[in-house]
This record gives sequence, structure tokens and C-alpha cells, in this order.
Amino acid sequence: MKPFRDEIEALQQNGITKVAFKRLHDPAVIPLWFGEGDIPTPTFIRDAAKSALDNGETFYTHTRGRPELRDALKSYLDELYGIELDERRITVPGAAMLGVTIAAQMVMTTGDHGLIVGPVWPNIDAVFRVTGADVSYASQHLTENGWRLSVAEILEQVRPSTKAIFVNSPCNPTGWVMSRQEQQELLTFCRDQRILIIADEVYHRTVFDGPHAPSFLEIAEEDDPLVVVNGFSKAWAMTGWRVGWVVTPKRHELQWTALSECFNTTTNVFAQLGAVAALEQGEGFVRQLQTQYKRGRELVDQAFGEHPLFNYQSPQGAFYAFPSVKGCDDGLAFVEGVLAEEDVGLAPGYTFGPGNDAHFRVCFARSPKQLEEGLRRIIRFAEKHYG
Ligand SMILES: Cc1ncc(COP(=O)(O)O)c(C=O)c1O
Repeated sequence: MKPFRDEIEALQQNGITKVAFKRLHDPAVIPLWFGEGDIPTPTFIRDAAKSALDNGETFYTHTRGRPELRDALKSYLDELYGIELDERRITVPGAAMLGVTIAAQMVMTTGDHGLIVGPVWPNIDAVFRVTGADVSYASQHLTENGWRLSVAEILEQVRPSTKAIFVNSPCNPTGWVMSRQEQQELLTFCRDQRILIIADEVYHRTVFDGPHAPSFLEIAEEDDPLVVVNGFSKAWAMTGWRVGWVVTPKRHELQWTALSECFNTTTNVFAQLGAVAALEQGEGFVRQLQTQYKRGRELVDQAFGEHPLFNYQSPQGAFYAFPSVKGCDDGLAFVEGVLAEEDVGLAPGYTFGPGNDAHFRVCFARSPKQLEEGLRRIIRFAEKHYG
């Protein structure tokens, strides 16, 4: 008997951790490889979780998340998007990643097809493949006006067996933001064809021209084939907490309850009570991070946008730059070289899906001083080897 299903046997470690694990926590390295900054979660959120523990909040809770967190999420989303959500559509999984996993498991199995808008964060590819589905990509391309992909190009890749389309906007790693009009076109098509859109909106608060990115929630009806996945990791600097949320079709409430029980039966209670504080008191902090990320983008724009050696377009959202070096078609070699010679941690492009081998990803969420030094070293390496 084979020890694993074929899909599990074929899994690969993602390229980010593959590079990073060699020098993880090495204080000599400026870590621009993971999707997080260097500011810890603010005290008022940590205090709320501490008080929850002190108050004995250590028991099982509602499968879809603490009612006060789901209420706070409803209020947050209603106000942010000017909508009126039914609270029964909200479930709190252990982070956004688990939300994507459950959504994918719900609709795909062997013989189905899952379509991913690329480039994409590598764990999404793995989640889709684990279902047994055949996976393919509709990929953004780099133009003089930024990363672009029309809805027609996405729809060209749809097959009769397509069960889910994954879209991450603002996009990790390119910073592409899907417009309201494009969201509407995709939603209309998927409503008609009964294909599930898994909309990953974890960077919803990281855009550079407004308070939030366009959300599918602003245009969808409550029983549209749509799961919007989000979480606390990025906008509130809570990556280690593992708290996410999903907004699902109303008629899927029972299935989300049942499948949540198969996974982790919502997430840690005290972390959820910290998340309530994040929603109720965190708007100032979200804006402070937005300002820092804006500064980060200015720095990467200056570093790569004005340098003749780099192919680069400024991101519209999220907190990553995804350039390539002219004359270098091996982004992994570049990343390994920068780590070995300059002690800067980057993510190799190949891991973000097909067609990205030449690229590398820089996370610019870190504080400006460290980021500036990291960028200076990347440029020194590029000039030395490719200049
Ligand atoms: C596009 C995207 N989705 C999901 C996640 C994971 O979020 P969480 O920490 O809530 O699992 C990330 C993390 O980098 C991401 O970039």
C-alpha cells in the first residue's frame, strides 16, 4: 500500500520557507522574505487576550467563533463597506489559510478543476492540489502600467469541470488590485455558471489610495457562489495569533459549521477576544500601519523604479515588490546569492506559480531603517553581478 495519496506525495515545501529555514532567526539577516512587519501586535490587543486568559476563557466555544467576535466582525464589515451582512454568514477559522482550505475542500475533488489567478502565494496552490483537483493558472502580466489581467483572460481558462476560481486582491506578490468593474464581471459569470469564487482579501486595508480595496462583499448577493476570506494577520499585525474570518453564502451555514468541526472548531478563545479589541479599538493602528507601508512602497519605488537594472512596477496594494533583474532569469539563484553575500532574506519568484522564475519578492512591511539597508544591499549585489 502506498503511504500517501498521490496529491500528498507530490507536495513540495514552498520556496519561501525552503530558502528561509536555512537562516531562520539568524540575527545577521535582514528578513524581507515573509509577509509580515517588525511591529508587534499593539498592547491593547495583547491586554485583551491576557485578560481573557486571566478570566478563565479557556473552554470550547461556538464552532463558528465567539458570538461577540462575529458581532464585531459584522459591525466592522457593515461600516467599512456600507453593507448589511447577515451574521450567520460569518465563520472564524484559525486564520485565513484555514478559510481557504475549508472553502477548497467544500467544492473540489478528484476530476474537478481549480483555477488560480497568479502569481499567487504558494500555499494556495498546495491547498487546491490537496483536494485532488487539476490546477491551472490565469496569470497577470507585467506591463508598463503595472501588473494586468482582464476578466476575459481569466474566463478563457475556465473548463466545464471548473469548480472554484481563486482571486487574491490586493495580490501577494504583485500588488495588483482587481477593480470593482472586474469583480462585477467575474461575479456575474460565476453566478451564472455556479463556480465558487474564493476571494482572498487579507490585504483589504493595504492600498495606497483609499481606506480599503474594492471587496466582492460590496457587490455580492447573499447566496452568490462566493467565499470572502480575510483575517487579522496583516491589517492588525497579528500573524502569530492565527485568527481569520470568512463570509460565506447564507445557505452554506450548516456546511461551514460541520466542516469547521472537522478542522479546528474555530480558533483559540483568548485570541478571538484579542481580535474583538482589534476591531473595536484598532482603527488608529490600522492607519498607522498604512502610513508605514506607504513609506515602504516609496522606498522600493526609489530603489527599483529608478534603477536601470530592474524590471519593476509599483504595487497598487499589499506590501510586496516583485521585480526581476535584467539579464538574470534565475530568481532563485539571485535570492540565494543575496542571502549568502549580503545577509538579506528574499522570496524566490518560482514559488509564486508558473512564469515567475526570474522574479524575486521583497516584503516592504518592515520599518524604514531596516528596509532601506536591505534594499541598499540588494542593489549592491545586483550591480556587482549583473551591472
Ligand atoms: C494571499 C494570502 N492569503 C492568506 C495568507 C495567510 O493569512 P493568515 O495568516 O491569516 O493565514 C497570506 C499570508 O501571507 C497571504 O499572503
